[in-house]
Amino acid sequence: MGLLEGKVAIVTGAGSGVGKEHSFLLASEGASVIINDLGDSAEQTASEIRDLGGIAVSHSGNVAEWNTGEELVEKAKNEFGDLHILINNAGILRDAMSFSMTEKEFDEVISVHLKGHFVCARAAAVYWRNQSKEGKTTARRMVHTTSESGLFGGPAQSNYASAKGGILTLSLTLGRELSKYGVTTNVVAPRARTGLTDYIQSMAAPEDKGAFDVYDPANVSPFVVWLCTEDAQEINGQAFIVGGSGVWWMRSWSHINHIKLDNQRWTIDEINARKGELFSGEDTGVPAFAAPKFG
Ligand SMILES: NC(=O)c1ccc[n+]([C@@H]2O[C@H](COP(=O)([O-])OP(=O)(O)OC[C@H]3O[C@@H](n4cnc5c(N)ncnc54)[C@H](O)[C@@H]3O)[C@@H](O)[C@H]2O)c1
Repeated sequence: MGLLEGKVAIVTGAGSGVGKEHSFLLASEGASVIINDLGDSAEQTASEIRDLGGIAVSHSGNVAEWNTGEELVEKAKNEFGDLHILINNAGILRDAMSFSMTEKEFDEVISVHLKGHFVCARAAAVYWRNQSKEGKTTARRMVHTTSESGLFGGPAQSNYASAKGGILTLSLTLGRELSKYGVTTNVVAPRARTGLTDYIQSMAAPEDKGAFDVYDPANVSPFVVWLCTEDAQEINGQAFIVGGSGVWWMRSWSHINHIKLDNQRWTIDEINARKGELFSGEDTGVPAFAAPKFG
């Protein structure tokens, strides 16, 4: 018996790449999966899952549109009678340095990633809150998709890094709002060779067919699917980098130093006089890109 027998999952952007792999693993663990993507690729993934004996239906639609979230939740209810898991994954890149980026490039990326995550999360939250109020309490899961660009900032990605950083705080906010309804919400930054990254030479498949393929997108899915199981009930509001053989638990924006007056407003001169205390011995430049190394 699979770990997710009887569970119903939505995966956005599951027509290819990481989302497609998440869908295959969810289905192989017994979940019924609603596969969302633009165009025909959603149905392609769903039919491949059905050919393997899994349960899947497709939904073709843009996650940046408000009604897509509602349609996906309705589809889960109508086809499979409930919804337990939402994996927000759909994404695009429109890279350019900030000084060259167009309004269209900025808006498209914010829409698909940040709004697209919120649209689906909101629709699921409405349904799960109502279910909880009716006394139907069962484990519910959201897993969102960020990026190392969102964790650390990334040159030529002010649109993407902002959206992916927003997704990290969106997840924290959802965690604070929805845990009382049995929902956990976590974020994963994948490392994988997909349509988004296949231009990166270092991520190419190994020539030796027997060697471990570090950047196979399927390497990301076991941790994402584990987050959806009963065993991960206590994991909430967390962020991870996942790829190859590694899982890194991430945390950021912690308090470093503190200066304070006694119930009065600072003057600029006073701040300047005590800046050494606030920044004592710390590096005040742009923080290093502290991504963990494979191996
Ligand atoms: N591959 C990596 O190393 C990597 C690194 C960091 C983050 N990510 C993130 O992982 C997620 C999956 O990307 P991937 O690498 O599998 O790339 P991918 O291009 O293979 O998959 C993204 C999918 O999202 C779909 N999509 C795009 N816009 C959509 C929309 N508006 N509505 C519905 N579907 C839409 C695409 O059609 C595509 O099938 C993305 O959020 C991406 O930013 C990937």
